[in-house]
Amino acid sequence: MAEKARVGVLISGRGSNMTALLYASRQPDCPYEIVLVAANDPDALGLKVAAAEGIATFGLGHKGMKRADYDRILDEQLRGAGVQYIALAGHMRLLSAEFVGKWEGRMVNIHPSLLPLYKGLDTHARALEAGDTVGGCSVHLVTVELDSGPVLGQMEVAVLVDDTAETLAARVLIAEHQLYPRVLAELVTRDATPEALLGKLREIALALPAAEEKLSHGTPAFAVAGGKMFGYFSDDHHGNGITALLVKTSGPEEQAMLIEAEPDFYFRPAYLGPSGWIGLRLDQGGVDWDHVGEWLLKSWRMAAPRKLADVI
Ligand code: GRF
Repeated sequence: MAEKARVGVLISGRGSNMTALLYASRQPDCPYEIVLVAANDPDALGLKVAAAEGIATFGLGHKGMKRADYDRILDEQLRGAGVQYIALAGHMRLLSAEFVGKWEGRMVNIHPSLLPLYKGLDTHARALEAGDTVGGCSVHLVTVELDSGPVLGQMEVAVLVDDTAETLAARVLIAEHQLYPRVLAELVTRDATPEALLGKLREIALALPAAEEKLSHGTPAFAVAGGKMFGYFSDDHHGNGITALLVKTSGPEEQAMLIEAEPDFYFRPAYLGPSGWIGLRLDQGGVDWDHVGEWLLKSWRMAAPRKLADVI
């Protein structure tokens, strides 16, 4: 991968999982880096650890603030730090549906049970109460419903006959520290393969009216049926090492302006560049698919016959 994925970690307390993610990120070849640690308690111990390790921190108490306002500020901080993925690690505050929606597919959480068992709190006491012989932990994608998103990885922990909720929690925590960095690394790596990027592009592009996929000089491309092309997938074109989506701009002026404003994201592609097409880099870590979707729609509008373009 060209760049390391930029991760923001949200905590509320001691932040031992954040610390595990951080030290794992300092191992050779780790595909992510921690760029911001934020807490809804300015005194959270984990913030002190992060600061001492030279990581940017943001602590803001949520008491007395409207959830939507708090989440807007948090979102600004995360985007300002260039965060591409969020890892929740003992973050004890519910996030608004709007916030969760914005980070869909790019926000993970660690939960101290073998989901779907024991969502919510007191997981270890409930596992012991039920007489379970194994406990454990899960990393899952965050969706609006608490502890219910797709599970990405789990680790089992044997229950000892004389375990208490505390002793079991302590062992599960060791397992959490092993599981979380690996699963996060897998997620950012998996998302960055050209196959995964193309799959996601297809999903968005082919949902547009009359959109169809074509091969253009051996490259997957998207066209409006009976109309023009509106997107090209470009993967290591002539060995340039770039994975990107090419879309149409309104012309050379817009193209130049965008490239100047965000040279790490936009570029002028060979061949199609002179006709006003622009490249959006998909190989820079977590991709903002909503943004890519807006570009595909804009490009689709330019390619679609008038009658069709007026429909949406
Ligand atoms: C962990 O047990 C985690 O599974 C749960 O909250 C706890 C956070 O601990 N979501 P820490 O702050 O990471 O030490």
